[in-house]
Amino acid sequence: MRMAPRGAEPFKIKMVEPIRLLPPAERQAAIKAAGFNIFSLPAEAVYIDLLTDSGTAAMSDRQWAAIMSGDESYAGSRSYYQLQQSVESIFGYRYLAPTHQGRAAEHILMTMMVKPGDRVLGNMHFDTTLGHTLLKNAEPVNLVTAAGLDPQVDAPFKGNIDLDRLQIELLRHASGEQHVPFVLITVTCNNNGGQPVSMANIRAASEMARRFGVPVFFDAARFAENCYFIREREPGYSNKTITEIAREMFGYGDGCTMSAKKDGLVNIGGFLAFASEDLYRRAVEWQIPFEGFATYGGLAGRDLAALAQGLTEVVELDYLAHRIQQVGYLAEMLDQIGVPRVRPTGGHGVYIDAGAVLPEMPRELFPGQAVTVALYLAGGVRGVELGSLAFAHVDPVTGETVYPARELVRLAVPRRVYTDRHMEHVAAAAAEMWTRRAELPGYAIEYEAPVLRHFTARLRPV
Ligand code: F0G
Repeated sequence: MRMAPRGAEPFKIKMVEPIRLLPPAERQAAIKAAGFNIFSLPAEAVYIDLLTDSGTAAMSDRQWAAIMSGDESYAGSRSYYQLQQSVESIFGYRYLAPTHQGRAAEHILMTMMVKPGDRVLGNMHFDTTLGHTLLKNAEPVNLVTAAGLDPQVDAPFKGNIDLDRLQIELLRHASGEQHVPFVLITVTCNNNGGQPVSMANIRAASEMARRFGVPVFFDAARFAENCYFIREREPGYSNKTITEIAREMFGYGDGCTMSAKKDGLVNIGGFLAFASEDLYRRAVEWQIPFEGFATYGGLAGRDLAALAQGLTEVVELDYLAHRIQQVGYLAEMLDQIGVPRVRPTGGHGVYIDAGAVLPEMPRELFPGQAVTVALYLAGGVRGVELGSLAFAHVDPVTGETVYPARELVRLAVPRRVYTDRHMEHVAAAAAEMWTRRAELPGYAIEYEAPVLRHFTARLRPV
């Protein structure tokens, strides 16, 4: 795989926000007070915050200017029409329903389309999509290819959907054995490392679904990063603009849900967009009671205006080249240290393979959490555990603990917020964690909530 030469930041800095690395003793006290859970740390105790790339982007001067001229009319806001035009020009979908964030768009899509017992097919549903499917008493079905689940396989499109398994599911649908309301393709695929889906795979999955009369939607949270990877890695796309690639990609679907907190380059917002007026009308029926009137959907006019501008910036090649290279730079430094990680590097972050960092540590001692806490102690760096603490659950039938496939720690890089120098600091913290790995303690749970325990759990080192 080709690594483009590293370009400097395609922006200069007009406003700064001070951050401070607490002295080691204060970091120790802060993480202890937080019950060794990074979600309970005050953000001011964090130096480099790689908890998420969601809602954490820095807006441009043009977006701030748009904020000042946002139209706060309840109905028919000018900012809504600006956003509608931005979305239509990039996604090709004419009909737009804003929402307060991505999961609200998922809620509406599921409510309008999914019935109990349905099977919602996709490459890999994000946690909230999975949750919304379960809330409809339907079954989320992940059909990502086997390569996509193996952290060590270096393949260009590990977000691809397994077309053979998709066909089996759709044949069962056609025979009346099961009902498939739609196929949802998540670009990029967050839960396996921000891995992209190829245009060829999207085209084939879409043609197949359409043959069976099943609609196709995209979870477009990181669509521009996916389009960039298509341009870099798939034959025939290297001379196309990101917008041209996006238009082709979204043309294979009937609509999308969007968390604008990622590739919208804004701090809050989302939307549903559709090719057909019929789907749009059905969405608005639920948008109005749950989110707000059709033209604002839970957002201020200024939020719509900032998003309209953000979408035009996220498809710029200079921006994307720097973005993807910055994440790649962090990954290269971890490789030099020897820290095992998911390969290849995804779009929005580096995923450390904590199971391989601490192969001797039993999973009930949460190796991912051990690495997460060690990174914080080493350099005030906040990543997030995506392993047993987040995903292990007790099987209601056997009573046994079912562990997730992998113990990962995600270092998600916010957009336009940190410089490459900050990435070097993160690598230095990772080097210290790596040097001390033999001494790292495991963790035991002192308190856990019945669901989604990782957000609020309290732990102690053992
Ligand atoms: N889809 C994907 C692929 C996501 O990664 C997320 C959020 C959502 C949907 C939900 O959107 O947060 O606006 O409601 N991911 C965040 C993360 C939370 O940290 O990866 P939302």
